[in-house]
Amino acid sequence: MTGAPRLVYLQVLSTVMTVQAAAGSFLVKRSTLSPACPVGHFPCGNLSTCLPQLQHCNGVQDCSNGADELNCEDLSGWSGMFRVKGIPDPQGWHQECFLSEYPRVCDCQETELECVDVNLDSVPRVSSNVTLLSLKQNHIKNLPAEVFVQFTELEKLFLQCNCIETVSSSAFVGLHKLQKLYLSQNCIQVLTAGTFKELHNLQWLILDDNPIKIIPSQLFMGLKSLFFMSMVNNSLEQLPGSGLCTDTPALNWLDFDRNLIKQLNSSIFASCGFLTVLFLRQNEISVISENTFSSLRNLIELDLSGNKLHRLSANIFQDLRSLETLNLSGNNLSHIHPSQFDSLACVRSLDLDGIDIPNIHVRMFAPMKNLTHIYFKTFQYCRLAPHVRSCKPNTDGISTVQDLLASPVLRVCVWVIGFLTCFGNLFVICMRCCIRAENQLHALGIKCLCCADCLMGVYLFFVGVFDVKYRGEYNQHAQLWMESTQCGMMGFLAMLSSEVSVMLLTYLSLEKCLAIAFPFSTMRPGRCQTLIVLHSIWVLGFVIALIPLRNQEYFGNYYGRNGVCFPLYSDETEKPGAKYYSIGIFLGLNVLAFLAILLSYVTMFLSIRKSSLHLSCKTRQLRQDVAMARHFFFIVFTDALCWTPIIILKVLSLLQVQIPGTVTSWVAIFILPINSALNPILYTLTTSFFRERVKTSLSRAQRRNTESLSKNSSAMKLTFLRIGGAQI
Ligand SMILES: *[C@@H]1O[C@H](CO)[C@@H](O)[C@H](O)[C@H]1NC(C)=O
Ligand SMILES: *[C@@H]1O[C@H](CO)[C@@H](O)[C@H](O)[C@H]1NC(C)=O
Ligand SMILES: *[C@@H]1O[C@H](CO)[C@@H](O)[C@H](O)[C@H]1NC(C)=O
Ligand SMILES: *[C@@H]1O[C@H](CO)[C@@H](O)[C@H](O)[C@H]1NC(C)=O
Ligand SMILES: *[C@@H]1O[C@H](CO)[C@@H](O)[C@H](O)[C@H]1NC(C)=O
Ligand SMILES: *[C@@H]1O[C@H](CO)[C@@H](O)[C@H](O)[C@H]1NC(C)=O
Ligand SMILES: *[C@@H]1O[C@H](CO)[C@@H](O)[C@H](O)[C@H]1NC(C)=O
Repeated sequence: MTGAPRLVYLQVLSTVMTVQAAAGSFLVKRSTLSPACPVGHFPCGNLSTCLPQLQHCNGVQDCSNGADELNCEDLSGWSGMFRVKGIPDPQGWHQECFLSEYPRVCDCQETELECVDVNLDSVPRVSSNVTLLSLKQNHIKNLPAEVFVQFTELEKLFLQCNCIETVSSSAFVGLHKLQKLYLSQNCIQVLTAGTFKELHNLQWLILDDNPIKIIPSQLFMGLKSLFFMSMVNNSLEQLPGSGLCTDTPALNWLDFDRNLIKQLNSSIFASCGFLTVLFLRQNEISVISENTFSSLRNLIELDLSGNKLHRLSANIFQDLRSLETLNLSGNNLSHIHPSQFDSLACVRSLDLDGIDIPNIHVRMFAPMKNLTHIYFKTFQYCRLAPHVRSCKPNTDGISTVQDLLASPVLRVCVWVIGFLTCFGNLFVICMRCCIRAENQLHALGIKCLCCADCLMGVYLFFVGVFDVKYRGEYNQHAQLWMESTQCGMMGFLAMLSSEVSVMLLTYLSLEKCLAIAFPFSTMRPGRCQTLIVLHSIWVLGFVIALIPLRNQEYFGNYYGRNGVCFPLYSDETEKPGAKYYSIGIFLGLNVLAFLAILLSYVTMFLSIRKSSLHLSCKTRQLRQDVAMARHFFFIVFTDALCWTPIIILKVLSLLQVQIPGTVTSWVAIFILPINSALNPILYTLTTSFFRERVKTSLSRAQRRNTESLSKNSSAMKLTFLRIGGAQI
């Protein structure tokens, strides 16, 4: 709202302004909401059709009358105030000049004189009946005493961009009719008390972009008509201790953006009863005492964004009954009181962007019945304001207000990958059970791996099921869903599956490595050891996945941080316990496991190369191990492909890099489970050993079939399924 648009608004304001216009009486009329729609849904203008929040203001006409795309702009507060009026055409100019004396380099029209950028270094001599004097962009360095004293008719005085350094305390003496005084973009450091004391009709005072450090307590003495005051981008560190408005009772608009104000005294706005707009953006305010705003009964817009507020007392806004726009974004608030917004019944736009609200609750926003625009730090908060038509951000990449899974591709893929993972692994488990392997212990390990991977498929099925269940109305259930036991259980499943899978892969690789690197060693784990290790891995997996569920106060809602219930990325709302745990698991355990796998493969390949030089040493066992190692390599390779993005994601989120939620959802639905989906294929279905076995069993079964003259053509398929029973 700074810069050009603001200037336009100021111009508009200056033309439509009627000084004592009752606060807010010329606000744009907005359509009222019909109460007929369920929570989270909003009507199509005056039709009785209701559409969910998401379809409003999304750029697509969903209502037959297009009402869902109307009134989408956030026009609360001052930006909406003057919208009804267009910018007036500069018309009615006459070339005639009524001034007898003025520098010829200036442009004179009637009684208005423009001396813009004409190298003046002092205020020129001009006829006393000048009404508008513009001395912008000159080189005037100081304003001596009584420099304007003869301009008794002057109404507007523009002195921008001059680098004025000193202003005498009687510089503006005699300007009894002055209404607007622009002193912005100068070099004024000090203004002495009483400087403006004779400007009884001054309505506008603009002091933007000066290095003013202090406002002396009597500075605004005499400005009893002052309506608008702006001191944007000065160096103010504090505001006067006594009330700002004691001398300026008509003050309506006050702008202190971009100063260095650190604190607001509780009586500072005590007599500002007419104030409608108060900007305190980008200051360094850290504390505001409870009664600071208690006299601002007509305030419509309050902007405290970009300050250093870390706490707000519960009753600080309680008297702001007319407030329509409140901007608290970019503050370091650590706590928002549940009843903080209770008395703000008129608020239409609330900006809480960048604020973590750990104790966020539906109850906080419910009293603001007229709220139409709300801005949060994360999408997750939107579900707690279901009665607000426009909530931003409106997706976290995974879910939208409407659906658990935002993208249709994800919705389909969750089923496809879930199916592949689940049935692929089940199939391999069956096959492995039927075909007796040479290395029983190795086969047992792989069966365990398939079990773990299968759980990932189950997890995806659940995601799919709940996505279908909440289709179209996710926002209403999101909060309950993420806090539910089901979500916790799903997270548990996914965690169990991925961690057991990682640990098993590590174990199997280490075991293979041992077998290949030391083929004749007696160090190979026996049946008993293998069983113990496999059991411990499962137990450890259970413990890892269960710990966050059992310690709610230390981990918070560990799994329920997003719609898919998998804790993929950290943010500041995460409890420290949860954060360190995630680091421990995803960057500690998993990285270690991955390094161990990598190391064992390097060792294996080195020893294979060495042993292939002595062909005589190659036993049948070794050849088999080498074949397995080759397959194992692909498994590890896919593993790396899957885990590296997750590790990178975790590191980035720890470095507080903003990760688009879309990335997270694709990682959760694709990358994480695709490993589990591929493992059975890589382990079993493509191994030469397995292929051989299937071939022999098939041919034997066929032979037996033809011998026994089996009944029908489908018998082969049946025998294929009964391979196990054949006891090959
Ligand atoms: C809805 O409003 C439009 C114009 O805003 C009007 O033409 C129409 O008749 C209205 N419909 C109903 C059902 O009131
Ligand atoms: C004052 O303005 C009037 C027109 O409004 C003009 O006729 C007159 O000459 C001006 N007087 C002086 C002293 O400039
Ligand atoms: C702030 O004011 C100073 C003069 O005091 C000016 O040089 C600077 O450009 C201004 N900054 C902005 C962002 O307008
Ligand atoms: C705030 O007001 C108190 C008196 O109410 C005064 O003593 C103090 O100096 C003021 N602080 C500032 C920063 O003006
Ligand atoms: C709130 O303030 C921030 C920073 O000053 C700004 O970017 C944002 O647009 C404001 N919000 C609204 C709703 O105007
Ligand atoms: C925000 O506040 C917390 C304490 O509430 C503090 O530790 C942290 O440094 C603050 N952050 C910033 C950027 O001021
Ligand atoms: C809410 O808005 C409607 C229409 O804009 C208005 O009539 C009503 O008074 C407002 N409610 C409150 C509590 O301000």
